[in-house]
Amino acid sequence: MKKIGFILGILVLIISAACTSHTQNTATENAIVPAPASLEKHAGSFEFSAKTRCSVENNMQQQVAAQFFKRFETAAGFKPEIEQNSLKADIVLVTDSTLKEEAYHLQVTPEQIRIAANSESGFFYAFQSLRLMLPSAIAGSEKVHESWTVPAVEINDAPRFGYRGLMLDVSRYFIPKETVLNVIDNMSVLKMNKLHLHLVDDNGWRLEIKKYPKLTEVGAWRVERDEPFPAREVAKPGEKASVGGFYTQEDIREMVAFAQERHVEIIPEIEMPAHTNSSLAAYPELACSVVEKPITVLPGLNTKQAAIIYCAGKDEVFDFLEDVIDEVADLFPSKYIHLGGDEANKTHWENCPDCQARMKAEKLPNEEELQSYFMKRMSRYVQSKGKEVMGWDELTNSEIPEDAIIYGWRGEGDAALIAARKGHRFVMTPAKKLYLIRYQGPQWFEPLTYFGNNTLKDVYDYEPVQADWEEGVDTLLMGIQGSLWTEFCQTPEDVEYLLFPRLAAVAERSWSPKSSNNWEAFLPALDNYLAQLDKQDVTYAKSMYNLDHLVQPSNGKLKVALSCIRPDVDIRYTSDGTEPNESSATYTDTLTVEAGTIVKAATFKARKQQGKTLTLDVLKNIATGCTVISNSELSYVLTNGIRGSERHSDFEWARWYNEDAAFVIDLGAIQNISSVQIGTVSNYGMGVDRPAELRLLVSDDNKTFTTIAELSEKPESIFERGTKIKDLDFGQLNATGRYIKIEAQNPGLCPKGHLREGQGVWMCFDELMVN
Ligand code: ACM
Ligand code: ZN
Repeated sequence: MKKIGFILGILVLIISAACTSHTQNTATENAIVPAPASLEKHAGSFEFSAKTRCSVENNMQQQVAAQFFKRFETAAGFKPEIEQNSLKADIVLVTDSTLKEEAYHLQVTPEQIRIAANSESGFFYAFQSLRLMLPSAIAGSEKVHESWTVPAVEINDAPRFGYRGLMLDVSRYFIPKETVLNVIDNMSVLKMNKLHLHLVDDNGWRLEIKKYPKLTEVGAWRVERDEPFPAREVAKPGEKASVGGFYTQEDIREMVAFAQERHVEIIPEIEMPAHTNSSLAAYPELACSVVEKPITVLPGLNTKQAAIIYCAGKDEVFDFLEDVIDEVADLFPSKYIHLGGDEANKTHWENCPDCQARMKAEKLPNEEELQSYFMKRMSRYVQSKGKEVMGWDELTNSEIPEDAIIYGWRGEGDAALIAARKGHRFVMTPAKKLYLIRYQGPQWFEPLTYFGNNTLKDVYDYEPVQADWEEGVDTLLMGIQGSLWTEFCQTPEDVEYLLFPRLAAVAERSWSPKSSNNWEAFLPALDNYLAQLDKQDVTYAKSMYNLDHLVQPSNGKLKVALSCIRPDVDIRYTSDGTEPNESSATYTDTLTVEAGTIVKAATFKARKQQGKTLTLDVLKNIATGCTVISNSELSYVLTNGIRGSERHSDFEWARWYNEDAAFVIDLGAIQNISSVQIGTVSNYGMGVDRPAELRLLVSDDNKTFTTIAELSEKPESIFERGTKIKDLDFGQLNATGRYIKIEAQNPGLCPKGHLREGQGVWMCFDELMVN
């Protein structure tokens, strides 16, 4: 018996040892982002020292190894010595011709590191994996004493997609060269390989073109404005344009060389026919003759001005763009040139004699096909230079230029599928998932931007390949791209904040196999990478630790749900107005609180607060907690006791677009009503304005309503400039009723002279306060 027990015990030990040494790495330390295709963790570790020797087979391997060992020189004060063909060395690089481009095989044992690859990029990526398994000080610029060990592992790795991209908009905010270089360096650590540079937009032309010096003398500079981007007025006559900058051709050569050393291809985008008030400010003769002059570089988003685009009727426009492409093709070794093609307003083409003559001569049925003519003509030129053409998904609105690669961006990016069905390759960068301009966490804690949220987890969860795609479409998908539009950036730190850590999520979704999607395993690997960003003093967002809230009325009380996208934290809260700390109550499930309660909560890890403190200061009035009857999805916010912020998109405003609004509150029983106020928010630049008229009605049965008060706003108050919360007050009342109804009249389209002239209006309400 004893003997059998002993043998069984040994068996259990052997089996469990085998299991622990051959399971997927879920350890919190040394995990790699993006997750390798396969990784086995073994016992022990390899230690780098001044005596470490590295063997290479050729010059290419020597250069890749030397590039990596520079980090050691800086951070450790020593670097491994490189020698030729010495298989007994501590680190051995060997060619494996069975491996694909970019793939690598990395074996780390306590005795040796062996790297096999069949391409320079394969060796380069093996070293990036090693870097992420080393102490974070390897990323720093100071010499430190460390135990420079990497755990014993066996990694077989290769990318899911060949295109692993980031778009940087360097037009709306001119991103300094040094920041771009640092972003490229970080892309390469994350095994990303395409940097799409959006060099041209209405807000600045960022590339020196020798033949057209005014593109940067004039086109790279805009007037200074303090308002947020959407609310900025155009330049006044004679006003100095002082904000901006551009890359000289020398800068570009430096960026390209720096990127090439890191296996990042820089793809230039030269926008046409729209988004180019910058070049038209420099050379206004390239716009349609019917356009009102002067044309200026825009400081913000101005719908009317942005409708000024290149004239499609003038041959000089094509001559100019061909000259620009000549210099771009020489400067950028990339095989691609992106021609933009998005959001081209055709108003001026409709009225321009030259454009209309072109349509007649070319037998084009409408202005959309005139854009197709424009893009096809320029595409042929780009192709004549030996380059491939890329463009935004608006190219699918008309005949697509031959062989053009399409970037799916609108909504979920589905327009790119129109191109794919015709055999075009495509890249997915859907605004709703991969636009890094969007809020990356609960909006109350974030710097101002616009549209909705794309949190770290939203980005991580993005899966481009959909089950309903026709057969073969997925083979045309080149990969995915995070796109960073910079209109709310003012400093390099703002750019870094929006990029990191979401770039790591883009990297994992573009490199790692679909089957490896594992949010809980990603987080410790991310933390490991962030520790390296700390060493580089890169700014990154900690929004992943902030709390989301959902407060819903429930029989006169409020149900408060709190959540955090990181599952590895405790949520602690108080309900007496005091600050939460590591000993406060742990939140486990929805709370039910009385009107008037102040809930404060935050996330904690290892007893340390991580995210910012969320304060929910619940109002108390007759309507708080009562049921709302309305067609607005978010109507419960009207009585949830929580006031919306100046961010009308913060999910605390009930919203109606371009239509009248009506909602009813059930007070539960007939009540005396002496005052009613309703909160509104205006945001001039975003077309969020106040109602023209408001009516207050009461009823005992929710059938027959009596109007008890009316309000009307003056036009200057409806379309007030800036962003402002204003409570509209129905004055002293003396009424009774169980049901309160508000009817609000939408003011109609933005009037003449408004930054959004002719566009619809959002009306937003929160909160309804009844006393
Ligand atoms: C885009 O966001 N206009 C491509
Ligand atoms: Zn024209």
